[in-house]
Amino acid sequence: MQTELSSTLGAEHAVFGFTPFPAVAAAISRAGGFGVLGAVRYGAADDLARDLDWMQEHTEGLPYGLDVVMPAKKVEGVTEADIEAMIPEAHRAYVEETLAAHGVPPLPEGEASGWRITGWLEQVARSQLDVAFDYPIKLLANALGSPPPDVVRRAHDHGVLVAALAGSPRHARHHQEAGIDVIVAQGYEAGGHTGEIATMVLTPEVVRAVDPLPVLAAGGIGTGEQVAAGLALGAQGVWLGSVWLTTEEAELHSPLLTRKLLAAGPGDTVRSRALTGKPARQLRTEWTDAWDDPTGPGPLPMPLQGLLVADALTRIQKYETEALLGTPVGQIVGQMNSTRSVQAVFDDLTRGFERAIDRINRIAGR
Ligand SMILES: Cc1cc2nc3c(=O)[nH]c(=O)nc-3n(C[C@H](O)[C@H](O)[C@H](O)COP(=O)(O)O)c2cc1C
Repeated sequence: MQTELSSTLGAEHAVFGFTPFPAVAAAISRAGGFGVLGAVRYGAADDLARDLDWMQEHTEGLPYGLDVVMPAKKVEGVTEADIEAMIPEAHRAYVEETLAAHGVPPLPEGEASGWRITGWLEQVARSQLDVAFDYPIKLLANALGSPPPDVVRRAHDHGVLVAALAGSPRHARHHQEAGIDVIVAQGYEAGGHTGEIATMVLTPEVVRAVDPLPVLAAGGIGTGEQVAAGLALGAQGVWLGSVWLTTEEAELHSPLLTRKLLAAGPGDTVRSRALTGKPARQLRTEWTDAWDDPTGPGPLPMPLQGLLVADALTRIQKYETEALLGTPVGQIVGQMNSTRSVQAVFDDLTRGFERAIDRINRIAGR
């Protein structure tokens, strides 16, 4: 499963894996893919440095990348406290009512939320980059729009390719104009923030729109047959996020959440603004239902919603409140039915890819 892009980056397989967990990212690179560590959950740059040190020790010189969330709109100079102050009281009350209706206790005195969204603030993302460029990352990906021109220049000065996620051909062309090197065409079925176009339709349109830039197909890919489909659509690789959540290396720290993911079907996700204020695909729960309920106050815009619900999500996770517990995940969750090692996922991807190629060759009479 090699393409020009995977060869340029030094990876055996053109399978890129986004994950918030260093142990998963390192295992993806060791299995011959290209691990990309998500940085948004790191508030302090020191924590990121610690985990990148760990990645260095556990990737055996194999290539890996980093994903930051730099919003296209500048929110420079705004602190978390400034944003907190903009949250209406009625929304805070609705959070407490919803938690109380499910018997979720408060956090113990002095225990802070472990779930922060400060990585969305430009100054935090920039401090993460100050750290990241000290490591031999090969790719810098950005989730919400093109990174600012100086960041693209800085990456190129360090010999780092820049990738950006796009949910439409228009987005993709904008990235191309901004000097981005790799476009991740991420379809509607993907976990996390998504647009409204399915991967099957989006990938070839983006490939055409930004030719000759390399495109990675993302969203709804979890089997080798789907890898083959993405490459058949003209992509130079595939970008997978959900499938790693149920691997042995994932640090979800919630056996209940793992059970829910393993049991979920392809129709058990919803594209909701409940988590961040922007539409993001996630497990459908009574928590997402509460925010999508037309009789409720509805979600706040990004980044207010993320701050509003940060403590609540920590409480739901800590007290394992089954009806409310969820995570970003895509429709591929329906095929995540057993816990496998990252290496076993790659073995399955390789076998499925070969099956697909054999089938197509037979159909083509080769
Ligand atoms: C738990 C989770 C968290 C995610 N967080 C981010 C993120 O911080 N930045 C980003 O660029 N993409 C994020 N994504 C999206 C992935 O990068 C990827 O595009 C997506 O998972 C691909 O679709 P799939 O879920 O069907 O594999 C996230 C996805 C999941 C499942």
